[in-house]
Amino acid sequence: MTPWPLLILLAGSAAAYADDGEYLFHAAGCLACHTAKDGAPLAGGRPFETPYGTFYAPNISPDRKTGIGTWSRREFIDALKHGTAPDGSAYYPVFPYPSYRLMTNTDAGKIFDYLQTRTARSQTNREHDTPWWLFRWMMKLWQWWALDEPAPAQTNQELERGRYLVDALGHCGECHTPRNWLGASIRTRYLAGTDLGPEDEKVPNITPERADGIGKWDADDLAYFLETGQLPDGDYTGSLMADVVDNTTSKLRVADRQAMVSYLRAVEAFPGP
Ligand code: HEC
Ligand code: HEC
Repeated sequence: MTPWPLLILLAGSAAAYADDGEYLFHAAGCLACHTAKDGAPLAGGRPFETPYGTFYAPNISPDRKTGIGTWSRREFIDALKHGTAPDGSAYYPVFPYPSYRLMTNTDAGKIFDYLQTRTARSQTNREHDTPWWLFRWMMKLWQWWALDEPAPAQTNQELERGRYLVDALGHCGECHTPRNWLGASIRTRYLAGTDLGPEDEKVPNITPERADGIGKWDADDLAYFLETGQLPDGDYTGSLMADVVDNTTSKLRVADRQAMVSYLRAVEAFPGP
C-alpha cells in the first residue's frame, strides 16, 4: 500500500507541473520569434540574420492557407521536436528544435492545442535568403551529425524541473552555449557563453564560474534578474536578453523561476570565452 503522504506529494507535484498550453508557449518563447516588429501575433516574418543568410520565421497561426491550420498534432510534434516538416524535409536550426526535442510529447501537444485557439492570420511565408550553396537537404545531415547528448538528467526533483525549464522550454543554451564549426553546441562548454552569439552579440557565461560567470551572484540576484532584467549592479540587461526576460522568464511562476535558479547554480562551472 502506498502511504497517504506520498500519494499527496505525488499528486501535488504532478499538479504543480501540469502546465497549460499558454504557460508552456510563453516558457518556450514562441511568440517573439514568430511575430514581426509591428506585425500580427504569430503571423511570422521576423528576420534572423545569421552567417548562413537571413531566415524568416513562418506563420504559425491557425490560418488554413498560410499558417498551420491544417496540421495534425503529429505533424506539429515532428516539427517542434524533430525538426521535420510535414513533407519530410528538415528545418534549419534557427528554429530551436535542438532544444525543443527535450520537451515531452504531452507538453508539445498542449502548445499545439493552444495555438489552435489563436486568431488565424493570413500572411504568406517569406522565402529565406540563403547563399546558393546552402540547401535544406543538408539539414538532414546536420541533424545526424550535430544533435548530441543533452545535459545530464538530475536526480533532485527541483533541479530536474530547472533543467527542463532551461533546456527544453527556455532554450537558454541556444544562445549561451558556444558552437563548434558545424554549429553544434559544445557540450563541454555548456552555458559558458560566446563572443559569436546571434546578431553578433556577446553572450555572457551563465555557469557558476566566479571569475566571469555568475558565481558571485546570490540566488536572489538571479531570481530577481530573471523576473525583472535588472543586474546586481542596478543596470538593466539589453537587447536579446531583455526580450527573453519580457517574453519568457518574467512570465514563469515564482517556483519555476526558483527551480531555474537552483539548476543554474548547480551546473558545472566553465570559464567563459
Ligand atoms: C529563435 C526563434 C524561434 C523560436 C524561439 C521558435 N521558432 Fe518556430 N521557427 C523559427 C524559424 C526561423 C522557423 C523556420 C525554419 C525553417 O524554415 O527551416 C520556424 C519554424 C517553425 C514551424 C514550422 C512552420 C512551417 O510552416 O513549416 C513551427 C510549427 C514552429 N516554428 C513553431 C514554433 C513553436 C510552437 C515555438 C515555441 C515552442 C517556436 N516555433 C519557437 C524560429 C523560431
Ligand atoms: C536569444 C539569445 C538568448 C537566449 C535565448 C537567452 N539569453 Fe541570456 N543573455 C543573452 C545576451 C545577449 C545577454 C547579455 C545581454 C547584455 O549584454 O545586456 C544575456 C544575459 C543573461 C544573463 C546575465 C549574465 C551577466 O553576467 O550579465 C543571464 C543570467 C541570462 N542571460 C540567463 C539566461 C537564461 C536563464 C536563459 C533561458 C531562459 C537565457 N539567458 C536565454 C542572450 C540570450
